[in-house]
Amino acid sequence: MKNRIKKLQKEKDVAILAHYYVDGEVQEIADYVGDSFYLAKTATKLNNKIIIMAGVYFMGESIKILNPKKTIQMVDIYADCPMAHMITIEKIKEMRKKYNDLAVVCYINSTAEIKAYCDICITSSNAVEIVNKLKEKNIFIVPDGNLASYIKKQVKSKNIILNEGYCCVHNLVHLENVIKLKNQYPNAKVLAHPECKEEILNLADYVGSTSGIIAEVLKGGDEFIIITEKGIRYKIYEKAPNKKLYFADALICKSMKKNTLEKIEKILLEGGNELKVDDEIAKKALVPLKRMLELTG
Ligand code: 13P
Ligand code: SF4
Repeated sequence: MKNRIKKLQKEKDVAILAHYYVDGEVQEIADYVGDSFYLAKTATKLNNKIIIMAGVYFMGESIKILNPKKTIQMVDIYADCPMAHMITIEKIKEMRKKYNDLAVVCYINSTAEIKAYCDICITSSNAVEIVNKLKEKNIFIVPDGNLASYIKKQVKSKNIILNEGYCCVHNLVHLENVIKLKNQYPNAKVLAHPECKEEILNLADYVGSTSGIIAEVLKGGDEFIIITEKGIRYKIYEKAPNKKLYFADALICKSMKKNTLEKIEKILLEGGNELKVDDEIAKKALVPLKRMLELTG
């Protein structure tokens, strides 16, 4: 099936993009694998007219908004990130009324409708850098409250306002499991994704995006306690099979696991799953996405 997919994909000039959380066999056939920021940026540089996105909806949606002329097909159009919906436009409007000097910052894990009401977009790999660069004093970060509380600790000069959204996968990590692993493997470095709760991040030696965590493992050391979705193992073992990785909880993002080789082959053969964004919303949502790309160079 992998060979058939690669053949079809070449014939049809399709690029396949995948996130680190999808199954290893899907990462294996993808042309580009990365974190949310890398995927959004890479898509803007591709010449292919068709992109197949193995990830979740907001990833494909961001790519479509940044590349309106390209056809974006989701491997599974129902692979959605629940956190992307954990903020309302009313709440954003309320905050804008409350504060004069306010920037509304949306995590890329948000819907296009929400992005349309925000000033700038961030991902876990550039959040602190971007928030530091904003001129506004008050910063409302949506939808992820955990990421926002992490930024609050890093950027002391701003009034970071938290929303109550969370990732239902990273929020599941149990403090006692991390402590147990730390006692069991005292030499292991603890690497965590900023979508984890503050009490978990307090125990981490490194906090960063999926690509940041992978880079940290490859930098040196033998043992790591990894606190993010298990799909990240594939890339690490591909590059460094001898590393010892310990996962605090079996974190599985069910939405990411909806991406399969069978579905990719079907789309290549029959088409379908094309992602569309309303023109007006896309025009407004492009502003925060473009600003993110500009500010991160
Ligand atoms: P990254 O941008 O770090 O890959 O994170 C995306 C995500 O959805 C994590 O849950
Ligand atoms: Fe969304 Fe969490 Fe899955 Fe990431 S891991 S896509 S934030 S549900």
